[in-house]
Amino acid sequence: MRVFLGITGASGAPYAARVLAGLAAADVEVGVCASDAAGQVIALEVFRDRSIPGPTAIQRLVSEFGGPRATLYDELDWFSPYASGSAKVDAYVICPCSMATCGTIASTSQANLIHRAAGVALKEQRRLILVPRESPLSLLHLRTLTTLAEAGAIIAPAMPAYYTQPNTIEDMTGFVAARVLDLCGVDNALMPRWGETT
Ligand SMILES: Cc1cc2nc3c(=O)[nH]c(=O)nc-3n(C[C@H](O)[C@H](O)[C@H](O)COP(=O)(O)O)c2cc1C
Repeated sequence: MRVFLGITGASGAPYAARVLAGLAAADVEVGVCASDAAGQVIALEVFRDRSIPGPTAIQRLVSEFGGPRATLYDELDWFSPYASGSAKVDAYVICPCSMATCGTIASTSQANLIHRAAGVALKEQRRLILVPRESPLSLLHLRTLTTLAEAGAIIAPAMPAYYTQPNTIEDMTGFVAARVLDLCGVDNALMPRWGETT
């Protein structure tokens, strides 16, 4: 199985780390691309050190959580397989997905590999899972998300639930990551399943 993971600069970089680790645990081939803003957020939220340069934080994230089948691509690497519909890819995930990237994808402007990969997924009618994180949502945000859903994207907001009775932040992060992995069709045991434990 092959999955593209785009990471953008919305808050929620720990979700990306958990999704990446879940893909690695399932032995999925993963192509990772993180935006410039994502690097800054990863430094702050995953490594809790704003002084780490963004590109270093991105490399660290991939080497610590990605496993041997993860490959990191530059934001402008148009030679990456994920830039073309001719490459076989099972699912495309953007987690977290900033509202800026949502808007850019919806406009069909493709300024970096993340936007391009999402555009490829939509034109090829493949599975595209977007994990936005913003609150409150303006009318423009809501309209943009509607446009993306109408075009075929799955909108899976970073919204941890309480019905699993989480004890830690890791449990709540795992909930969001598990739902994303489920949508990709990747087996995982990151959260208790309703009806199995309650
Ligand atoms: C610490 C931090 C947290 C942010 N949180 C969010 C957020 O939750 N949602 C969002 O849409 N943008 C958020 N932003 C703003 C985006 O990073 C900014 O719009 C950026 O241009 C997005 O670019 P990208 O989509 O290429 O990553 C945040 C920025 C920083 C530095």
